[in-house]
Amino acid sequence: MESLKVALLGFGTVGEGVYRTIGTHQERLQKILGKRVEVVAVLIRDARKRRNIEGDVLITADFNDILSLPQLDVVIEAIVEKEPSYTYLKKAIKKGAHIITANKEMFAHHGKELIELAEKYKVSVGFEATVAGGVPIIQTLRQLLMVNSVQKIEGILNGTSNFILSEMREKKQAFAGALFQAQENGYAEADPSNDVEGTDAFYKLMILSKLAFGKQPDWNKVEIAGITSITGELVVEAQKLGLRFKHIASVQNVNGRIIASVKPALVTRSHPFYHIEGVQNAVNIQADIVGGITLSGPGRGCIRRRVR
Ligand SMILES: NC(=O)c1ccc[n+]([C@@H]2O[C@H](COP(=O)([O-])OP(=O)(O)OC[C@H]3O[C@@H](n4cnc5c(N)ncnc54)[C@H](OP(=O)(O)O)[C@@H]3O)[C@@H](O)[C@H]2O)c1
Repeated sequence: MESLKVALLGFGTVGEGVYRTIGTHQERLQKILGKRVEVVAVLIRDARKRRNIEGDVLITADFNDILSLPQLDVVIEAIVEKEPSYTYLKKAIKKGAHIITANKEMFAHHGKELIELAEKYKVSVGFEATVAGGVPIIQTLRQLLMVNSVQKIEGILNGTSNFILSEMREKKQAFAGALFQAQENGYAEADPSNDVEGTDAFYKLMILSKLAFGKQPDWNKVEIAGITSITGELVVEAQKLGLRFKHIASVQNVNGRIIASVKPALVTRSHPFYHIEGVQNAVNIQADIVGGITLSGPGRGCIRRRVR
């Protein structure tokens, strides 16, 4: 049977998760695609690390080896930072491969260019994994946009921050204790700054902004605050008033001007995010015809737990 040849860029939490999922879901993938899905190569940084990868898969630290493959249908990218990811994906598109990325930092910066280049080379760009892992927000937005005009999007886009805020409230913990628990559970990196300082949610919000409004706000004018200033005492005081802290990324179109912020906010019981707890993500879309829609589901935590 003909097979779809896939190269994986990165074999960390996401890359290895994708590799294992392709293995365990082969039958279902074949039914959908009519072809076997075969991971033929894996790009990593450290060629000396031992990895649990089948013997016939090319493992390389040199991207030219990937480009030299005799057949390359899809490149799935799960490495970190803007570069070299952007350069690699441009080259993959020019070789005629479809691309799929989980890299929100790169895609927030270069999504537009990659989509334009892919159109030129008649290949597709998948970026559902860049925003809110287990919540199908990208395809929902695309579908809504066919007839609706979106006015505002709000989201709990970082499961680590949401987990920490939930822990602080439920277990009456200080920020440091809740962060430690997040790290113990595999929900936070050894360096959690991107998550707790709001940068991760910001990149995701910029991807949503481009999709919903066709543009992003001036990045320098976006207020970005994380959850590090929220103390255990503040959380307890809020709870006495029937309020909960949530870390909310928000973007709206005000007469053609895009206004965005990423910061903690107090929400009341009637707010759609009041009951979003732990590593859950949620996105609320306000659109002219359908009104308000809220989607919620597992964020990064689900990926980490499944791989471990
Ligand atoms: N973790 C999540 O829950 C999650 C969810 C959604 C999206 N994402 C995004 O997905 C991407 C990957 O995240 P992750 O958590 O899987 O990261 P990770 O565990 O740190 O893994 C990164 C992988 O990329 C490889 N790599 C890094 N720089 C490279 C380079 N210059 N050339 C070749 N390979 C390189 C590393 O190689 P070595 O193994 O040799 O070090 C490693 O295999 C990130 O952009 C992240 O923002 C993550």
